[in-house]
Amino acid sequence: MLSFPSRLTPEQFLENFWQKRPLFMPGGLARIQPAITRNELAWLATHDDVESRIVFVDRDTKSTRYRIETGPFDENFLRALPKRDWTLLVHDVEKHIPAMRSLFTQVPFVPDWRIDDLMVSFAAPGGGVGPHRDNYDVFLCQGIGKRDWCVSTEEIASDPDASDDLALLAEFSGDRFTNACGDVLYLPPGVAHWGVATRASITYSIGMRAPQASDFVKSDWATRDYFYSDPDLSIDESITGYIHPAALRRVASLPGASNKQEIAIRLGRFVTQTKGWLTPDAMELAAARALLAEHNGRLRVHGMARLAFDDANIFVNGVDSRLDKDLSGLVAGLCSKRLLTVAERRRFSATLRGADLLAWLTSVGTFEIPEIS
Ligand code: SIN
Ligand code: CO
Repeated sequence: MLSFPSRLTPEQFLENFWQKRPLFMPGGLARIQPAITRNELAWLATHDDVESRIVFVDRDTKSTRYRIETGPFDENFLRALPKRDWTLLVHDVEKHIPAMRSLFTQVPFVPDWRIDDLMVSFAAPGGGVGPHRDNYDVFLCQGIGKRDWCVSTEEIASDPDASDDLALLAEFSGDRFTNACGDVLYLPPGVAHWGVATRASITYSIGMRAPQASDFVKSDWATRDYFYSDPDLSIDESITGYIHPAALRRVASLPGASNKQEIAIRLGRFVTQTKGWLTPDAMELAAARALLAEHNGRLRVHGMARLAFDDANIFVNGVDSRLDKDLSGLVAGLCSKRLLTVAERRRFSATLRGADLLAWLTSVGTFEIPEIS
């Protein structure tokens, strides 16, 4: 787990900082394991199914300008990048390299379904994406190198000259932190921040996801949209995969929200929704049963699969099924280990309902099942 400064406990972090104010954690994650190298990141950015971009900082003119190019990138282009003033950003790294998911265990006090992805950036000296704010909480974990951050909780105006794809703010002065290797900076949603690499730098961003009111209700009830927020998050809510009743209560209190059961389904679908090109293949139930019959070993959860459950439903990759109470222990184990042992498979198969659920899980792309030749 991240180590907090001044003997702060996870409970105190949630109470005083989570969704409230930034926290600089010197040595918060002394050893990032597994780590990714600049070359591995560049290699990822050459692939079609990997979302990547490069932000160039243009200091030729009087004011600093930022320019964005989106991947995939050609290997030669990446090799020929200048020595300074650019950042390569790669999203969803843990979906492409499943071992990287273990970084999420550093924030066990946040329900895992709140985590959206691991974004990793490599910045050449002088590189940065410009002053901006994000709608989501983020833990910025510094790998190699050094990055200077400027952070402000003030209302900062947007930069009228910046292109829409960057959504930049006007330059601002605020609190300054230098993230050296092993340091972590936590930022709640909406806080203006601006990082500049002072040495070639790798940053691992554990970014959250939050549904908006418009994900739950018809759009015509209000002019303003609201993001789900949980500043009252309690450590008891963090059971891997579990959507705690407290989360459902928060969603139910969003303006315009109504029917509780429907809200539960929509929330579960939303938090397990995958991006189209990062979705494990689904199949017919009959094909899933046949595959399970042929492959009787342990089952590993697919690196791209998103799983969650509440007291009545299970959600995988944006779809849902009913969950019987007597199967919820097995499902909880599946979510936390992302693995089903042969013994656990047997327990699923011991009842008709369990066997049906296992077939459903397989059909919606929960598992990485080796091709049977
Ligand atoms: C970065 O890693 O370069 C940018 C992260 C951020 O500002 O959100
Ligand atoms: Co940001």
